[in-house]
Amino acid sequence: MPQTRRDFLKQVGIAGGAGVMLQSMGALGLSPAAAADRPPFTPPKPDDLRGRGTKSVVILGAGIAGLTAAYELGKAGYRCTVLEARDRPGGRSWTIRKGTKETDLAGNTQTAGFSAGQYMNAGPGRLPQHHLTVDYCRELGVELETFVNANAEGYLYRVGNHGLSGQPVRHRAAKADTFGYISELLAKATDQGALDTYLSASDKDALIALLRSVGSIGPKVAGDPAASYRYTGGGRRGYEVEPGVTAGTPLPPYALSDVLASGIGQYFSFELGWDQAMQMLQPVGGMDQIAYAFERAIGRGKIRYGTEVVAYRNTSQGVEVDYRTNGGQRTVDADFLVCALPPHIAAKITSNLPAEVVTALRSATVTNAGKIGIEYGRRWWELDHGIYGGITNANNELGNMWYPSSGFHGKRGVMIGYYNTGASANTYGALTPQQRLVKALEQGAQIHGPAYTRDVRAAFSTDWATNRYSEGAWVGWRSRTDGNYDRLLAPTGNIYFAGDHMSYTIAWQHGAIVSARAVVESLHQRVTAA
Ligand code: PHE
Repeated sequence: MPQTRRDFLKQVGIAGGAGVMLQSMGALGLSPAAAADRPPFTPPKPDDLRGRGTKSVVILGAGIAGLTAAYELGKAGYRCTVLEARDRPGGRSWTIRKGTKETDLAGNTQTAGFSAGQYMNAGPGRLPQHHLTVDYCRELGVELETFVNANAEGYLYRVGNHGLSGQPVRHRAAKADTFGYISELLAKATDQGALDTYLSASDKDALIALLRSVGSIGPKVAGDPAASYRYTGGGRRGYEVEPGVTAGTPLPPYALSDVLASGIGQYFSFELGWDQAMQMLQPVGGMDQIAYAFERAIGRGKIRYGTEVVAYRNTSQGVEVDYRTNGGQRTVDADFLVCALPPHIAAKITSNLPAEVVTALRSATVTNAGKIGIEYGRRWWELDHGIYGGITNANNELGNMWYPSSGFHGKRGVMIGYYNTGASANTYGALTPQQRLVKALEQGAQIHGPAYTRDVRAAFSTDWATNRYSEGAWVGWRSRTDGNYDRLLAPTGNIYFAGDHMSYTIAWQHGAIVSARAVVESLHQRVTAA
């Protein structure tokens, strides 16, 4: 006789008591489970290596993957050496402050003129609560604060062949109109029987109740289907005159066809994303606090900065790496190598990797992204627009504009004037830093008005495609099943590959951590099995 889940739980409850009952509910996906399971990881322990001698690992790259590998292996007693071409840890996880100096591959040199305490995150800038990055922040003592990833007061700006073209639309108005019109149409269709094949009478009532709530639509008008369930706007989309001792004057809704044609509604899929939904977090004082915390935990002496890898290879004993420093060329050897460089960089460096491994590294497709940080001497977005953190999204080359999530009501602030990817990033990236600022101010003023060009104190822009040692923002795979990804998941001799590209969470530090931990586990299993 088939059992219902309820019957089953009843039996367990009777036989095992409440504890067993709750556990079983969790297994059935019914209880309010604590948190989703993280990708499994058994950290290696010092005891595991007892009697096996010291094992050495050389790690290429002090980005988040390389740092995670060095940290976890180091805790277990592996002797790690990290080779890092830059003079800082973090790789793309990079915070720009007063005095940060960078020369890109096109020969542009910038020195950040931000005020003390001001900064921009040139790479990662936001952390979902469920990412392992947050667990490491807890473990390493990196203080976190809210990152505002969605703000009803921000704008959506759409240029196109529709009535909203070139008009900044408040996020809340776009959302209210999108949900309102969808609800009106669906309620009408439901009420008129268009969905009778799928819905029982009580389903229909429940659905209409949901739509009235989600869409803020009107009631049914007996005998008048067209007048029924109408969406006519209302306070949730914003006011011309806000309520005071007298009622407010809500702004009228945009026309249905403009809402549809502009595509503003599609934006809301972004903030529903597994990795983008509020609540989100950022380290206090800049994303690089994570990399520096790793550096402290690993021991600064284990990381050799300013070392450019010239060649790496498997040997009969282990591995060897030739690298260049100020003092000339040197070679380091070790039992194992973790290559935590971007795949397109790893592919270019001389090695004795088999051709198919180099081909696999090369098969990653590189995406560009860029950002400009603009420091203003007046927080006009707070003062004039009532915006405290969050995002304005534009379908021009600016892409995304981020208002600072901290320092509210301060004297100054750095906003991200653009965070764009792909072709827009390349367009901006092809300009000089000064030209980028001019263009960003011009495009930003179309959305925010003339205040956007005033009180500018400093700016710094990054184009990841021309960033030395990264040469791209992140990579993608044409296929995960053509053999290339799997080839790199497995070690080649004593060489392991790590990085966010070796995960299903590309373009997140979490992906770098997941990958590094998988490599640490697999390397350690091999050592302890020997
Ligand atoms: N993690 C990056 C960001 O949040 C890049 C990214 C964007 C990754 C959107 C996935 C989805 O901006």
